[in-house]
Amino acid sequence: MADIEYDNEAFFQEYAKMTRSQRGLADACEWHMLQPLFPDLQCKRVLDLGCCYGWHCKYAVEQGAAQVLGIGISHKMLDESQKRNADPKIEYRLCSIADYDYPAAAWDCVVSNLALYYIADLDRVFANVHRTLKSGGTFLFYIEHPSFTAGVHQGWVYGTNGRLLYWPIDNYFLPGERVTNFLGCEIRKQHHTLTQILMGLLRIGFVLEAVEEAEPPANMMDLPGMKDELRRPMLLVKATEEKNIKYNCLRFTSHDVSASRRQFQLFMFSNC
Ligand SMILES: C[S@@+](CC[C@H](N)C(=O)[O-])C[C@H]1O[C@@H](n2cnc3c(N)ncnc32)[C@H](O)[C@@H]1O
Repeated sequence: MADIEYDNEAFFQEYAKMTRSQRGLADACEWHMLQPLFPDLQCKRVLDLGCCYGWHCKYAVEQGAAQVLGIGISHKMLDESQKRNADPKIEYRLCSIADYDYPAAAWDCVVSNLALYYIADLDRVFANVHRTLKSGGTFLFYIEHPSFTAGVHQGWVYGTNGRLLYWPIDNYFLPGERVTNFLGCEIRKQHHTLTQILMGLLRIGFVLEAVEEAEPPANMMDLPGMKDELRRPMLLVKATEEKNIKYNCLRFTSHDVSASRRQFQLFMFSNC
């Protein structure tokens, strides 16, 4: 098994140049919104789906986790995780998100950061994660927003003067593979609608504790291209494996910058 994209040497080298690759979570623009959503990890068991360099695995150990498993399909990325984020409590394993065996009631927290948009059958992953979580366990993931994955070639449209005009969306209701270019390489991702993601979680029995549309923090706004991240959203979801809770709350944060230029919706679920 190999990750045809992340094991590609040219892509691997470009990925390593990104500031988040060089400096870790503090330079990941979603981290200021993701970090507060982590449950207490003291003495807990944590599974990371698509761990890459292992930043979130290391964070879990720093928060007191007793055992962490990070899985991924890129040999190169897993080698890198051993160099950068090794710890006796962390196992990095070459294994795909689809092939992991998800033992029943084994993990307190399953995290997946920027990896689930590579998965075609999300419902299967949701069912597996639901099974492998202990009662009351947390599934926390950050996934590209459907308006991102439905972006035409996942790129902006520019005006004749080189000015960035808008982010085009097409075939929103046709889930499936989208080919895009990231860091100079052809990358294949999977588009899922918002309904598929959120209802997929609810149908399998998760309770949604938080749904947030991540935006970069104010102190990163001067970085190249960062202000444009306010023009279309990325998605963060926290779900809990817990039955018999009366209220589900979907909290969408949004901002009014260029609100008229992008689509977003607000939902509140109650008495579910
Ligand atoms: C954008 S990186 C994100 C990595 C890391 N979670 C982070 O936030 O720094 C995506 C990672 O997911 C891995 N990946 C992609 N498809 C996968 C799959 N089907 N199973 C396991 N890992 C996968 C890639 O090899 C890559 O390491």
